[in-house]
Amino acid sequence: MLRRSTQAVLAAASLASVAVSHQVLDLGTVDWTLASPNFSHISVPGKVPSQVHLDLQDAQVIGDPLHALNEFNLRWIAYSNWTYTSSPLALQKNASSTWLVLNGLDTFTSIEFCGQHVAATNNQFRQYYFDVSAFLGFCDRPVLSINFGSAPIIANATRAIPGQETWPFGVQQLYEFPNREYIRKEQSDFGWDWGPAFAPAGIWQPAYVVQLPPQNVYVRNTLVDIYREGQYNFYAPDQTKDWVLNASVDYLGSLPLGVNVQYTISDASGENLQAGSLSNVTSEDGRLTGSTSVRDGAVEPWWPVGMGQQQLYNLTLNIVDSSNTTVVTVKKRIGFRTIFNNQTPISQEQIDLGVAPGGNWHFEINGHEFYAKGSNFIPPDVFWPNVTEQRLRQLFDSVIDGNQNMLRVWSSGAYSPDFMYDLADEMGILLWSEFEFGCALYPVNEKFLENVAHEVEYQVRRVNHHPSLAYWAGGNELENLELQTVYKKAPDEYPRYLAEYETLFLDTIVPILLGNTKSISYSPSSTTNGWQSLDFSKSQPITQRYENLTAGAIYGNTDSYNYNITQLGNLSRYPVGRFANEFGYHSMPSLQSWQQAVASEDLSFNSSVVMLRDHHPPAGGVNTSNFYNASIGQGQMTMAVQKWYPVPDKTDSLANFSAWCHSTQLFQAEFYKFQIEFYRRGSALPERQLGSLYWQLEDQWQAPTWAGIEYDGRWKVIHYVAKDVFKPVIISAYRNVTNNDLEIWAISDLWSSISATVNLTWYDWSGNKLNISMDATTNVSVGAINGTKILVSNLDTILQGRDAVNALLRMDVSAQGSRPNSNSTQTFTHTNWFHPAPLSSSNLTDPGLELSKNNGSFTVKATSGVAAFVWLDYPGGAVLNFEDNGFWLAKGEEKEVGYKVKSDTTGGRWKDAVTVRSLWNNALSEGY
Ligand SMILES: *[C@@H]1O[C@H](CO)[C@@H](O)[C@H](O)[C@H]1NC(C)=O
Ligand SMILES: *[C@@H]1O[C@H](CO)[C@@H](O)[C@H](O)[C@H]1NC(C)=O
Ligand SMILES: *[C@@H]1O[C@H](CO)[C@@H](O)[C@H](O)[C@H]1NC(C)=O
Ligand SMILES: *[C@@H]1O[C@H](CO)[C@@H](O)[C@H](O)[C@H]1NC(C)=O
Ligand SMILES: *[C@@H]1O[C@H](CO)[C@@H](O)[C@H](O)[C@H]1NC(C)=O
Ligand SMILES: *[C@@H]1O[C@H](CO)[C@@H](O)[C@H](O)[C@H]1NC(C)=O
Repeated sequence: MLRRSTQAVLAAASLASVAVSHQVLDLGTVDWTLASPNFSHISVPGKVPSQVHLDLQDAQVIGDPLHALNEFNLRWIAYSNWTYTSSPLALQKNASSTWLVLNGLDTFTSIEFCGQHVAATNNQFRQYYFDVSAFLGFCDRPVLSINFGSAPIIANATRAIPGQETWPFGVQQLYEFPNREYIRKEQSDFGWDWGPAFAPAGIWQPAYVVQLPPQNVYVRNTLVDIYREGQYNFYAPDQTKDWVLNASVDYLGSLPLGVNVQYTISDASGENLQAGSLSNVTSEDGRLTGSTSVRDGAVEPWWPVGMGQQQLYNLTLNIVDSSNTTVVTVKKRIGFRTIFNNQTPISQEQIDLGVAPGGNWHFEINGHEFYAKGSNFIPPDVFWPNVTEQRLRQLFDSVIDGNQNMLRVWSSGAYSPDFMYDLADEMGILLWSEFEFGCALYPVNEKFLENVAHEVEYQVRRVNHHPSLAYWAGGNELENLELQTVYKKAPDEYPRYLAEYETLFLDTIVPILLGNTKSISYSPSSTTNGWQSLDFSKSQPITQRYENLTAGAIYGNTDSYNYNITQLGNLSRYPVGRFANEFGYHSMPSLQSWQQAVASEDLSFNSSVVMLRDHHPPAGGVNTSNFYNASIGQGQMTMAVQKWYPVPDKTDSLANFSAWCHSTQLFQAEFYKFQIEFYRRGSALPERQLGSLYWQLEDQWQAPTWAGIEYDGRWKVIHYVAKDVFKPVIISAYRNVTNNDLEIWAISDLWSSISATVNLTWYDWSGNKLNISMDATTNVSVGAINGTKILVSNLDTILQGRDAVNALLRMDVSAQGSRPNSNSTQTFTHTNWFHPAPLSSSNLTDPGLELSKNNGSFTVKATSGVAAFVWLDYPGGAVLNFEDNGFWLAKGEEKEVGYKVKSDTTGGRWKDAVTVRSLWNNALSEGY
């Protein structure tokens, strides 16, 4: 029910920008009926915005789509047509013009108004608007009816059109429903390896009927672009220049002659910082554009979290007629920042500082390099209308609590709603954004390209004013996966497919992007070796580098997956690049999450229900009896646990399932920890590595996936472990698994150097200190966004014949420093543990964990040994972010852990059911 009320508020908020002289009927406020020509017995109340599955669920025609194997049972919905029909609309008869404004239709529709065909649509990501004035004149029953066709059937039919584009077998990644690449609909609606395939339909975004008096307009979209004078998307902006604010309003209706645009920029106290008329106003084809300049220093810059304040301003645009009467007002919340994705060649100056030659690939905020820490965001729900601002706020709180500053909003979902960018603006989360293409190549016929062009223009203009918008990429894994697969499968045809790729991702998208924004950088593919050269005499200036690489040089960003379980911690297998934008391994969600969707008798690793919710490797079709791929995915998790951890073998089958789920999370957490530490050390190495975004932030259902946050918001072990290794200052050990060479580094992503004290102590598992001395520096300084080697040695030399299974190194660092843009000095600490032997063969002992509950916190103490991966667990029905979890404790060490309650349906009773375990309890003792 929350879903509805929040949307009503959002719709009202967006109406606030409309002047009073219009009549805008929010179609979310009228009654709708949902029926299907395929099923005469179904006729239920419909909603706007919504999707068919949600409305059928509300009407109890179907159960929870996410329950058990309902994904497969509900395919009939996707194979059918569905019609949303409004009640008669209360409209004026004497308006000068009447428009349908549809911000999002998912996807194939035939629209009727007053019983007349208005239009057909075929792109989920476009805003559609139709002048229906002529229909209203002779209309007794102003009813709007939108008939949605079946996306899987239409995708197939599009594929079958004679002359349609095809690709060599194996190039197009097939999840469940085929042929997604022919249609402009959320690609993961047809299945992905972390989500179900529902192919939903519906009026998924707000929709309006707008009625205008003469000489009046309705603003349907507004671009605001803020950049430094002379700024150009592919080069570092000059931070001494004044700001330019370019505003461009898309409207329906007609403006009186001689309009002017008055603007004010005000701060949260309501005070106007600057006001006046926009200069250089031009007006054509329903678009009014003008600009002004804002003196450098007149406004405070916007910074991402951890780097300064998230300063925002209100921009008000008043379009006034020649007698200075306001025709329409537009408000946008803006911020002043430059965000630059630097792919320029490595300079001699950088080489002199030890950077390997090649190309840069990193982000700069307001002229400063920074270390990007974060993860990849997928659609947080299979049904977008079910995503509320409150849910995203909770998720973004976890992003901030997890020490993350950037999310890559993965490109085969949907363009993010404004309320998501609004939250990111307020919280300081940079959103690397992408056009919705991925893991496929796409057709380049004229109709397809024209359809994409409309989509790109609308979306680029809609979100550009948000200071959290960090970057645009053309699509997911196109250069490193798709083009390379074509090259392997059909080398003779590679030039043709490459040319087509460039037709879409360079020739079509780039001129539109550059025509609308000077502030945002672009790359055709999420993972890329970057551009090789730029030619500004062309409307599309980019020549991509692809594989034109020079030996010894380093280019671009990296994307790396390795399901060979023997390779945990083998640093030589990680890619050396400038920025890591994807890497990961899947794990099971907690028992508490499984219980939301799966009956207790099915809660075992090999039950059909659990297996068939594992979509990795991809199912490869809609066949639901093929357990083969699911068993590979389940096997990868199982074998990883068996190789690296003591194996749970509890008598109680539910406790055993829970322990196994947890163990897969421990593997995942260690797998990511090694890589994040490796990439962060790269900031001090010739690769000058400046980003680590793991796959993936969150879940959209309860299933085995790469997520760090489960569907209801509960953190897996990895989200806590990533929080720990994303701290500004960390200490970590790097072991060469081939020759046992060991290095220890202190690493900092602060913007000024720090002086740090280091402590290294060896223990056995019973918690006794070992008499091992290492020739390590104890007082070190670490440069800005850099690292310092504390120790270089060899493990065999260090252990001097001691058995590694009973030796553990505890590393502590404590540093004085200050955060970017802050004058105050603070202490940054980090503790890390290195276990030289796999935990599966280590001499684990019962650490004798004790848990006490305080007012607002818990205290955990290890009384009889070293505790690995201490885990505070809590029952379903609540969601908490603990301050710390998944940590290690020395014998006798106690730790007080605070928490934030994110949601609670237990009436506070969760507190009595909090438990604590460590690796020892999880695998080597009975009970949960
Ligand atoms: C189903 O939808 C498609 C696409 O809009 C349309 O062409 C077809 O006529 C519809 N069929 C029915 C029975 O409504
Ligand atoms: C779509 O085509 C595939 C073969 O490419 C077929 O297996 C599937 O049944 C078709 N789906 C529909 C809804 O017709
Ligand atoms: C923008 O204006 C709204 C009221 O219209 C106010 O609540 C808000 O604080 C303002 N925000 C900023 C950043 O100026
Ligand atoms: C208006 O256009 C002129 C000529 O192109 C340019 O010099 C000036 O900077 C523009 N003014 C603003 C505020 O953009
Ligand atoms: C138009 O009105 C605004 C305030 O509403 C005022 O600041 C401005 O001076 C007026 N301009 C003219 C030309 O009257
Ligand atoms: C909608 O979202 C809620 C969380 O707010 C979730 O519990 C529910 O399962 C979702 N429904 C569907 C059908 O995705």
